[in-house]
Amino acid sequence: MKDTIKLLGISASPREHGNSRFLLEVALEAASAVAPDLVETELHSVAGKIFDPCDACDMCHDELGYCKITGDDFDELHDKWIEADAIIYSVPVFHMGVPGNLKNFLDRVGNSVVEGFYSKPWKVIGTITQGSGIATGQEQVMMYLNGHAVMMGCIPPTTLTSRCRPRPPTSWPPQVPNTRWAPTKAAGTCSAW
Ligand SMILES: Cc1cc2nc3c(=O)[nH]c(=O)nc-3n(C[C@H](O)[C@H](O)[C@H](O)COP(=O)(O)O)c2cc1C
Repeated sequence: MKDTIKLLGISASPREHGNSRFLLEVALEAASAVAPDLVETELHSVAGKIFDPCDACDMCHDELGYCKITGDDFDELHDKWIEADAIIYSVPVFHMGVPGNLKNFLDRVGNSVVEGFYSKPWKVIGTITQGSGIATGQEQVMMYLNGHAVMMGCIPPTTLTSRCRPRPPTSWPPQVPNTRWAPTKAAGTCSAW
């Protein structure tokens, strides 16, 4: 029986200090506050990281059980992904979907891990997603990552999605609420800001 829960937060924005990271920090702090002695949190940002695309060689399925592509930042996050008991992805909407760099990581972690993973205990995988509201797309991101969780044999919990802009750091000018794109009370949306 493990005595701590490892909660990995993945900030999937190419912007190191953007909205995704801000929301993720709040979520990780809240999770830690519930049980400080039990919950071990780690924030991993993909900003500046490179995940080369899957080249569909299928060697991960057929022979290796791991991805043969080397020389990028895949292995570091792959190992953290495996180690974690729970994962929160914090994802900006890019063109109604997930940013390409995260998609590259998920394609490769999906194919190389999925078949061997079922013998291990399930993880809980949650998603925070937000966009500018111009075209929205939060639901697509949420559904995509819930699908990823199910494919990995993991558990997707209720997901938080925000159509409003997250609260800016205090050094920013005060934010005027965007009433045109005000969040709805529809499932999972956030009306906190
Ligand atoms: C390439 C690109 C595509 C985007 N596509 C969408 C979109 O389809 N829908 C949306 O609501 N916002 C879209 N956005 C806006 C971002 O989701 C929004 O600015 C978000 O707050 C950025 O998060 P970050 O601060 O964590 O980087 C896009 C931004 C970029 C750079």
